[in-house]
Amino acid sequence: MASSYVPFLLVFLMASVVPISVASLPHKIRLSASDVAAIEAVAPPRPPSLDQPTVFFEVDRPHRPPPGSFGPCSTLLLSHSFAYTYAKPPATAPYSPPPCLAAAGGRASAISLAVLEWRATCRGVQYDRVFGVWLGGAELLRGCTAEPPIQSAGVDWTVSKDVTKYASLLAACDSTTLAVYLGNIVDQQYTGVFHANVTLHLYFRHPPPPPPQPGLGPADAVVPLSRSLPLNDGLWFKIENDFDVATASVTVPANTYRAVLEVYLSYHSDDEFWYENSAGTGPFREVRVQIDGDLVGVVWPFPVVYTGGINPLLWRPITGIGSFNLPSYDIELTAFLGKLLDGEKHEVAFTVTNAMDTWFVDANLHLWLDPRGTAAAAGMVSYDAPPLDTATATLPEGPDNGLYYTTAFRHVSASGWVQTPSYGKFTATWTQRLGYENTIRSRDSFFRPEVSQTTDAYSAAHVANHAGVLYAQEAQQNFALYKFVGVVNQTDFDSFTAATKVRLGFREERVAAGRSGFWSRSLSNSQECARDVDFEDGEAVRESWARARRTGTRPPTRATSGT
Ligand SMILES: *[C@@H]1O[C@H](CO)[C@@H](O)[C@H](O)[C@H]1NC(C)=O
Ligand SMILES: *[C@@H]1O[C@H](CO)[C@@H](O)[C@H](O)[C@H]1NC(C)=O
Repeated sequence: MASSYVPFLLVFLMASVVPISVASLPHKIRLSASDVAAIEAVAPPRPPSLDQPTVFFEVDRPHRPPPGSFGPCSTLLLSHSFAYTYAKPPATAPYSPPPCLAAAGGRASAISLAVLEWRATCRGVQYDRVFGVWLGGAELLRGCTAEPPIQSAGVDWTVSKDVTKYASLLAACDSTTLAVYLGNIVDQQYTGVFHANVTLHLYFRHPPPPPPQPGLGPADAVVPLSRSLPLNDGLWFKIENDFDVATASVTVPANTYRAVLEVYLSYHSDDEFWYENSAGTGPFREVRVQIDGDLVGVVWPFPVVYTGGINPLLWRPITGIGSFNLPSYDIELTAFLGKLLDGEKHEVAFTVTNAMDTWFVDANLHLWLDPRGTAAAAGMVSYDAPPLDTATATLPEGPDNGLYYTTAFRHVSASGWVQTPSYGKFTATWTQRLGYENTIRSRDSFFRPEVSQTTDAYSAAHVANHAGVLYAQEAQQNFALYKFVGVVNQTDFDSFTAATKVRLGFREERVAAGRSGFWSRSLSNSQECARDVDFEDGEAVRESWARARRTGTRPPTRATSGT
């Protein structure tokens, strides 16, 4: 992820000496180990902790098993030390369902909550690295590692992810493989080795299982759309530019009555900070999913800042939203079953609009199957996917000054019908509406452009038959980013403050309805952080967050349900 970087302090020093041409600055904003060490050296003293690793964490909602559950039954799935693992095969371990799952009846429906726990430590000097965890080729977790503080006993972090939606994979009788790829590089300067454990915690419900809620709850099958082992890399596809197409072919079982594609993605190297790109391909990115050439849905990603991004000291100990547990994105394919239920192979293609090197993308196809037999028929009713509507305006204010303003809008909708033995004939509609706005401001005195970006994404799946709603799901998401890195309060040739400010916002409202009721959930997570480094006579003398506000992360979550 971080094979090259900008000597950050040096550029700050140069900022006061030479006129800055924004266009000629390198794209990446990363600190080397010696840069971080220099800043750590002037950071306010912390409680001594030289024998205990520092704990970093991402604020997240706790996982609570549903009332009446028992457990957990915990199984260590894999334990591995990732030293020089870059471009090597993933670490693997054979997986078969833990004995306690068999004791609880063995079926996926016996699982009331499944939590995948990633716990790792690292000591020494190391960058942040991206990693993925796959079970039978289906991605379960993508994360970024913590960057260990240099003058310390290292770092320790834990991610707990609700993986109940993969219950069918966890309970599948055929033994399969758990794979973890974490591309780490160890050399004389970067010495940190990541020691990681992957543990599965299962909670069970007392029999009998709850009455089935068609289309809600975990899918009956999860089909991976990823690269297959053996390979010397992650199982993700690599997309390096606008023209790259990653494809997977898939055959959908004839008794499928609901299909949802879950897309995992992350961006690195030249596109790690895609949102501040005012040259070349601009700051807008869209992951497109096409089936047999038709666009079925898109992802406009949340701007995750990895733990080494912009300034690693911003992300200690509370890491950036989504960085330890990257979000995945759902595209409902039920309205397209008319195309997919013919028993033939279909091609699913992933592209990234405006991409620069590198995006890692793969997906899981979640399928709900009618236990009583095959679909009699299915068909498309309507489909509308007008071209992306995007515009850019620039306002030059001087050779290195200016505003770069980008907007984008997108609409996708489809409807289709399916006839199945259990649910009769039903119609499914799928709607996506997205809006995007990005402003990049460059000024003479600014080392990096100032960026403000918001993304609004609405998606809805409605499925109904003559008896009413079979299931419905709606999500309204709002992603916000503000970023400033610059030189302020320059009093002298080489005396100034290097200021960094980042705000991230992740908000979503979700509503789901089924035959027996509805639930709604709202999540609002916002994070604001700032660090200042004071320079006098060209030397970093102070590091603080005193003058700027740091509010940390606020995760009010509210869950309501009713009938
Ligand atoms: C991983 O598990 C082993 C065995 O329980 C334990 O000794 C080790 O400390 C664990 N490592 C981490 C990083 O949790
Ligand atoms: C810049 O200087 C002004 C006036 O001394 C002060 O109020 C402000 O906090 C300083 N800002 C930073 C980021 O140092």
